[in-house]
Amino acid sequence: MSFSGTGKVWMNGKIVDWADATIHVASHVIHYGSAVFEGARCYKTPKGSAFFRLDAHMRRLYDSARIYRMEYRLDREALTQAVVETVKANGLPACYIRPLLYRGYHTLGVNPLSCPVDVAILVWEWGAYLGAGALEQGVDVRVSSWNRAAQNTFPALAKSAANYANAALIKMEAALDGYSEGIALNPEGYVSEGSGQNLFLIRDEVIYTAPMGASVLPGITRDSIITLAQDLGFQVKEMDIPREMLYLADEVFFTGTAAEVTPIRSIDKIKVGAGVRGPLTTAIQQAFFDYINGVVPDRHSWLQYVEIPVPKKDPAMAHAAPART
Ligand SMILES: Cc1ncc(COP(=O)(O)O)c(C=O)c1O
Repeated sequence: MSFSGTGKVWMNGKIVDWADATIHVASHVIHYGSAVFEGARCYKTPKGSAFFRLDAHMRRLYDSARIYRMEYRLDREALTQAVVETVKANGLPACYIRPLLYRGYHTLGVNPLSCPVDVAILVWEWGAYLGAGALEQGVDVRVSSWNRAAQNTFPALAKSAANYANAALIKMEAALDGYSEGIALNPEGYVSEGSGQNLFLIRDEVIYTAPMGASVLPGITRDSIITLAQDLGFQVKEMDIPREMLYLADEVFFTGTAAEVTPIRSIDKIKVGAGVRGPLTTAIQQAFFDYINGVVPDRHSWLQYVEIPVPKKDPAMAHAAPART
């Protein structure tokens, strides 16, 4: 998808026009990937717009920053308020939200500590991440020839920009080979995750996902799906998953804020189950969409309602719906 190039961005406390949200090319982040970020969503529900688990996303953002010794002048609560303000300023009833903490302009030594920690918050409309139809029909994926990073190299629990150099290798390889996504193994050869999604597989009605420590990001959607699947009475096991279990699974699906719950219909050209979205995936997907769309009670307190002002008829604020990727 490409940006419409309009809208407002929060930069270090100021709301600026999209076109003015710029930084100097000598900023540390550009050279060394010294940033941590989040991807959250605000959904349109019958009761108004609602953030989905924004508190959990902001907690993970501050966890990521802690690992990388980044301290921002605003605490988590104040920056959460800034996210709310940014979404309101853009007048989007449903959007994807990207808060980014980055090392700014001062020096280009590798040591980032003397560079300022700056923050930007972007929001935009983002549809089905893995393409139109993916949520119903599923996607074709391959196991990547690239592994996820080993323990004690690039911390997987941090959502750090640097980790996405690896993710881009996985994604480019898959795309150039005609697949929607790649599944990475960890250095021990167990299943890790997609380039930007956690992975679940189902065999004999038991649901499996890789544990923390298998080079996975602790996904907020992953955590939500574990809870919703258990609510539905399914057994969920977090365990190391050998690669070949991918080929023996009845059902496999990705989870993520961008990908939501996307079924996988083939892996390395081997059909997953019958090659269509399976019954448990359908039930879990339904439970997830019912929840985020606010059509079932918010029994886990995951929704935070927000009043979005209707934007004035200003052409600079007219957000064209982006093409689906
Ligand atoms: C590498 C990676 N794994 C998993 C996820 C899913 O995490 P979440 O459900 O919090 O969006 C993401 C997306 O942020 C990701 O980039």
